[in-house]
Amino acid sequence: MTDRWIEAGATADVRLTINGQALALNVDGRTSVLDALREHLGLTGTKKGCDHGQCGACTVLINGRRINSCLTLAIMHSGDDITTIEGLGLPENLHPLQSEFIEHDGFQCGYCTSGQICSALGMLAEVDAGWPSHVTTAIEENPALTISEIRERMSGNLCRCAAYPGIVAAIESYAATLKDAA
Ligand code: FES
Ligand code: FES
Repeated sequence: MTDRWIEAGATADVRLTINGQALALNVDGRTSVLDALREHLGLTGTKKGCDHGQCGACTVLINGRRINSCLTLAIMHSGDDITTIEGLGLPENLHPLQSEFIEHDGFQCGYCTSGQICSALGMLAEVDAGWPSHVTTAIEENPALTISEIRERMSGNLCRCAAYPGIVAAIESYAATLKDAA
């Protein structure tokens, strides 16, 4: 493998699939995925809260896994598949989890909401895959999606409005609909 060095300030070509659309970008090597989305592509549904990996507002799905987009560089993801809130649902065609957030009063200012929703979908895939969390007691079994599991697994997503009860209820309700449909 050949090492590839990028000088500070140098730009690089990056090919990404974003919300199902293949895109080519030329970005400064230091550009985060978050800034590529917001500043280069105008996808402002993904929010910048702390820009330091501490609030989860910038969470997107990369190859199906939840990632803090402020903490990872666009050039690290050439060839990757990124889903933002715009790729999940739009006002005229909401994702069912977005509808649950409305139904259960899961947001107030809404600043954290896109990150909460992307994180919740990533988290549910982790549960499906049988990944234990810090509060899972029987780690040899597939974890049940209890309220304490939802709280623990969503603990990286902060809500300054403290809409946590509604967020948990929305996720719980959405997960129940998935279970019923299975
Ligand atoms: S903006 Fe990325 S974790 Fe806060
Ligand atoms: S709804 Fe305001 S920060 Fe969560």
